[in-house]
Amino acid sequence: MSEQEYPRESKNKVPKGMAAFFIASIIFVVVYVVRFTPAITGWSYYTGFEESMKEEQAKVSIDAAGELEKFRGNIEAIDEGKKLFAASCATCHKEDGTGGSVGSDLTGDLVFGDSPEELYESIAEGREEGMPSFKKQLRSTKILKVIAFVETLRN
Ligand code: HEC
Repeated sequence: MSEQEYPRESKNKVPKGMAAFFIASIIFVVVYVVRFTPAITGWSYYTGFEESMKEEQAKVSIDAAGELEKFRGNIEAIDEGKKLFAASCATCHKEDGTGGSVGSDLTGDLVFGDSPEELYESIAEGREEGMPSFKKQLRSTKILKVIAFVETLRN
């Protein structure tokens, strides 16, 4: 009569998948805590922030001459540069770059130089007397395309 078997604790093994998941969770938490504990790894929100700032700044001081080679004589890039120039620069420098009451003439002798680096700096960082900085608005690729276009105005 008492042949019937009742489930017993010892026979109720934890399914393998569950056990693996449980162990993996523990490992994850331990690794996570160690990774972000300043006393152990030296991690801090601020060093991370500073590093990404440095990367951001490094991007600004790019190899303008080398990068510009990609766009020089590239009709599509120059055409995009022309559109960007019309949208962002022409209000002050006129569509043909000859300048006006506000912006200087970009087709003649340049005060700050006309090498790729100097042009890049003028546009990315801005210049004292009224030239705004464009690095946030345009970023490096677009600035380089604008330079490729400006160079066509100067030839
Ligand atoms: C708000 C008006 C304004 C806008 C917009 C503007 N500029 Fe200028 N830019 C100036 C002024 C003013 C100067 C002269 C700055 C100085 O002499 O310090 C200048 C100077 C420059 C120079 C340096 C010229 C030299 O003689 O060395 C370059 C290159 C230049 N701008 C390119 C651009 C480009 C490209 C754009 C668009 C992305 C642009 N500018 C947008 C006003 C402007």
